[in-house]
Amino acid sequence: MKVSPSLLAANFADLKPQLQMINESEADYLHLDVMDGVFVPNISFGFPVLKSVSEVVTKPLDVHLMIVEPQKWVSQVRDLGAEIMNVHQEACVHLDRCIHTIHQAGMKAGVTLCPSTPVEMLRDVIHEVDLVLIMTVNPGFGGQEFIMHSLDKIRRLRALIDETGSKAMIEADGGVNGRTAPLLAEAGADILVSGSYVFKAPDPKACIRDLRAL
Ligand code: DX5
Ligand code: ZN
Repeated sequence: MKVSPSLLAANFADLKPQLQMINESEADYLHLDVMDGVFVPNISFGFPVLKSVSEVVTKPLDVHLMIVEPQKWVSQVRDLGAEIMNVHQEACVHLDRCIHTIHQAGMKAGVTLCPSTPVEMLRDVIHEVDLVLIMTVNPGFGGQEFIMHSLDKIRRLRALIDETGSKAMIEADGGVNGRTAPLLAEAGADILVSGSYVFKAPDPKACIRDLRAL
């Protein structure tokens, strides 16, 4: 299992030691949640903060944009050196074009689905998507309760990927903890995002190691 700790759960007044912890950990990525107060009912952080973070973090960046019109920000995300740019299917009228623009900028294209969006919405683009991010909570806040029916959705996504021969990885985001992570592994997830469970743990590095061992 790959692990992408979400910085949203960090203490923003004291970021550097937490970024160094991520660098020293076995984390595969650092997950960065950008919120605009329009697509989701919350605002997190923007490019000035991301730029400073990107200068300290040595892990590949997994940027999750919970914003309207994400296609406007492709070059700014590229300039951070991000490996993955995740856009919401619900925020992109021209999703196919957005995926191409992300690829042209040299990044992996991730498409994110809210809990109410069926995986079938991706059937016609799944062959060109590098990653599908399944929201296992409603996006906008850390620390929410895992939505159990998303396990069945991950199984349906795995079936769609196998059926179409897509190479897309499956990432799950929200409410990932010691109880839900094994269920996600069994359902077919490749990458787990985890915010509160990792950052509030007494030993975050051990927590990351345990998730990776699934
Ligand atoms: C929520 C974000 C998540 C969030 C997860 O909208 O996309 O990445 O940080 O937080 P936890 O792991 O606490 O549910
Ligand atoms: Zn996220």
